[in-house]
Amino acid sequence: MKADNGIALVDRDEQGIDRAFRADVLAGLRQQQKAIPARWFYDEEGSRLFEQITQVAEYYPTRSETEILEKRGTEFADRIGTGRAVVEFGSGSSVKTPLVLGAIDPGAYVPLDISGDFLRESAAALAEKFPGLPVYPVEADFMRRVQLPDEVLPLKKLGFFPGSTIGNMVPRTAVDLLRSMRATLGADDGERPMLLIGMDLVKDSEVLEAAYDDADGVTAAFNKNLAVRINRELGGTIPLDALAHEAVWNDDLARVEMHLRAERDITFEVSGERFSMREGQTIHTENSHKFTRRSANTLLLAGGWTPEARWVDSGKRFSLILARATEQREAP
Ligand code: AVI
Repeated sequence: MKADNGIALVDRDEQGIDRAFRADVLAGLRQQQKAIPARWFYDEEGSRLFEQITQVAEYYPTRSETEILEKRGTEFADRIGTGRAVVEFGSGSSVKTPLVLGAIDPGAYVPLDISGDFLRESAAALAEKFPGLPVYPVEADFMRRVQLPDEVLPLKKLGFFPGSTIGNMVPRTAVDLLRSMRATLGADDGERPMLLIGMDLVKDSEVLEAAYDDADGVTAAFNKNLAVRINRELGGTIPLDALAHEAVWNDDLARVEMHLRAERDITFEVSGERFSMREGQTIHTENSHKFTRRSANTLLLAGGWTPEARWVDSGKRFSLILARATEQREAP
């Protein structure tokens, strides 16, 4: 299926199986270090579990970022000005988006999401909260350049990408995304758009590992739900009781890694193909990169964005950075 702008959305075969999901899972399971892209966590149950994660005591990023958004509204308004079209990469969350929209008096709101359902829900909720604000939801994969609605083209743009979702990408992919955002926001048409982006900070490994392995087991359930989804949607026979949730800090690569570890030797099938795992072998399911002030700035610069301001919460755990598209011709 293709959206108006020619971007492929969910492509299903005759049995209703998501072709991209199957391709990613099979390719990932054939590797020596098995790995499945983290975007496949988010089926309905995965999205529900993620919402629950944001409430557990150990998972600080959502609370820390919300604190910044609540406290720094006047500073955002001073730096960003009024009348911009706010383009959110991903559907607006019920808490964070209104805080930004309420602070800067925007000219329009454009949520971009690959899931039409989330998009319609969040757009409706936002339209209700901000009755005079034009809302133009766009169903699209924002990893590539997206054509914005004609109505917002004359407005200046502010990209909004909260949550440190950029951290779920390896640096090469993160740079590609930052460059796509520039293209989507019209950086090459002369206007220099701005970007407000959440980036989680490097901190003690105990704090980080606990945030991704909470005592109530919500993150463990979130991780294991990927195997549940594979079994349900791809005719899988993965023995769920043999998989354990693992969250480890990789200091060299500055990221928390989530894995599903086999607790005994297992064999299973997915889409008719046979796989085996030795005891202790893992499926790598997620990276969550953490940043220092400098590494965050370097990543943004590599993606074509010059940082202009930075805010950190009172616990110094999370940063929110305001950047502006870098001039095409930079000296020297
Ligand atoms: C969506 N993303 C920013 C979350 C994170 O913190 O990396 C996903 C997550 N995975 C486990 N807990 C939360």
